[in-house]
Amino acid sequence: MSGGSDNVPDKAPDRPAVAPPLGLLAELTHRCPLQCPYCYNPVSLSGRGTELSTESWQQLFAAARALGVLQLHLSGGEPMARPDLLPLITHAAGCGLYSNLITSGVRLDRDGAQALADCGLDHVQLSFQDTDPVMADHISAYRDSFARKCAAAEAVRAAELPLTVNFVVHRQNLDRLPDMIALALSLQAGRIEIAHVQYYGWALRNRAALMPTRAQIDRASEAVAAARVAHAGRLVIDYVVPDYYAARPKPCMGGWGRQFLVVAPDGDVLPCHAAKSIPGLVFENVTQRPLADIWRDGEAFERFRGTRWMREPCRSCAYRETDFGGCRCQAMALTGAAENTDPACALSPAHAQMLAIAERDADAAPPPFAYRRFGG
Ligand code: SF4
Ligand code: FES
Repeated sequence: MSGGSDNVPDKAPDRPAVAPPLGLLAELTHRCPLQCPYCYNPVSLSGRGTELSTESWQQLFAAARALGVLQLHLSGGEPMARPDLLPLITHAAGCGLYSNLITSGVRLDRDGAQALADCGLDHVQLSFQDTDPVMADHISAYRDSFARKCAAAEAVRAAELPLTVNFVVHRQNLDRLPDMIALALSLQAGRIEIAHVQYYGWALRNRAALMPTRAQIDRASEAVAAARVAHAGRLVIDYVVPDYYAARPKPCMGGWGRQFLVVAPDGDVLPCHAAKSIPGLVFENVTQRPLADIWRDGEAFERFRGTRWMREPCRSCAYRETDFGGCRCQAMALTGAAENTDPACALSPAHAQMLAIAERDADAAPPPFAYRRFGG
């Protein structure tokens, strides 16, 4: 990794200052033993031979902390596929980063969870595919995945690590949302994240198999509202509604290049995990340029930072500094241009078409899954 400045410089005369990022998503590897059809990683994955070394990740963590990053999310693929995960966590803790491990849990036992805690890990986020064990195995293409995840959750609690469980929801599991909340309570999770599939990357290939109906969404929203009242103070429920049935977009990543950065397994620095789905962006690598410089003026970060890049209707919209035009990757996937308004917005010319796609897919019989096979 090359040397260079660690801090974001003061405001230059011709451009606004760039605030430091809050969070870093470190995709330690794309390798994964599961094969989920809604995988959000790029269609083209980084092989093991291109992954950053232990030392490069450790240097990156130090540079991220110096830049102002507070939260480190260790993700993948499956981060536990990295044999150096423990020294990486130890180093992150030494840098003063709050570390969150996002894992499938299928390789996490009691000794492993205790070792993570001993290294200074702060939090575990455990992903579940379903509460029905047969469906969980079907969605993940991994035998006994549900039982293994439940055991992993118990191991995390035994190690006294805070636990969040997350579910990616879609047409084939959404009706079990009340069971998901009950499972989170029984596993003594402090938080549950329930997020609908985002249709870019590999997931776009499985849209017809995963798109829920409007009636499913309405039932799920009612169940979440009731559970929030029933379990207030015991379980935090984060629920992300699906874009295809929304009227307003979410500020994806808190706005492009505003709060978060992602480092891919090979060291490429991205404004979001799906940014490589946007043609023409140039991604810089932490082995070639200091992280702070990439964050400050890297071409990919500057491309959609702020509001200068916007077209109408975003350009003159009162919400442009609230949602930052939604998701660039979704705009790319559905309109062919990342500069366009996210079609999740009712003001987008493509919004009606997006809703029509959702209703068409949800009404048809679901095709078989196209599984994501990469191994780990
Ligand atoms: Fe947000 Fe653009 Fe829609 Fe306005 S037009 S609400 S800025 S996405
Ligand atoms: Fe890339 Fe939303 S996932 S901007």
